[in-house]
Amino acid sequence: MSLMREIREFPVPKNSVGIWWLGQNGYIFKSPEGTLASVDLYLTDSCAGVYPDFDLSRRVPVLIPPEEVQVDVFTCTHNHQDHTDPETIRGLRNKDAAQFVGPPPSCAVYRTEGVESGRIALAWPDCEIAYRDLKIHGTFALPTDTSDLNHMGFVFEFANGPRVYVTGDTDYSDLLASAAKHSPDLLITCINGGFNNLSHFEAADLARQIKPKAAIPCHYDMFADNAVDPRQFRASLRMKAPDVRSQELSHGKPFVFSASM
Ligand SMILES: [Fe+2]
Repeated sequence: MSLMREIREFPVPKNSVGIWWLGQNGYIFKSPEGTLASVDLYLTDSCAGVYPDFDLSRRVPVLIPPEEVQVDVFTCTHNHQDHTDPETIRGLRNKDAAQFVGPPPSCAVYRTEGVESGRIALAWPDCEIAYRDLKIHGTFALPTDTSDLNHMGFVFEFANGPRVYVTGDTDYSDLLASAAKHSPDLLITCINGGFNNLSHFEAADLARQIKPKAAIPCHYDMFADNAVDPRQFRASLRMKAPDVRSQELSHGKPFVFSASM
């Protein structure tokens, strides 16, 4: 059975969220009602060769080809190609059945790749977007290079149950802790440190300030020249935020998280 079909058929218990990691910052979330939301799906090898000085060829297999993706809400945190991938968006078949959410440069890519403007919702760090039993709160992120001022994160809130904070790519800033106002139960954070992203140590410090129940590291697995061992995050978390559980996900395997976990 294809992974997308597995996800669609997977029953998510009340007060929980089903989470599937597809590599880098790419996730699909499923609410108890069956609402499907994605963030930063990178499902091609389009970054390979973009920067000749770096090995950015894909290391995680494409677990769901773009044409098989079926989500209700498709979100991107910023317009870097490993997050807002024009080839992935071009390949989607359900463009006329989904809502597309992101900061202005990501919305421009949605439009270029054939998404109708009525299906696109602009997002920014303090926005709130509701869809069925899903609420999306925009959060602050600090851009990691000079190409794009529009980085952000999201807190996904599922049926008034668990709240999941996805940092997106971000440099360290004291303002990141402002996401604590949404009381996230789970933190999904970049840890790679390269290209001005949070290091595992800074990510652990953010967890200390935000106090989620658990933290999932990401953005260390896709490219050889942007990789780090997630065990370093586990160790940093133990030092900086011993009350926050470290949770490493396996690509394509369901992880059910409930706020009472
Ligand atoms: Fe990235």
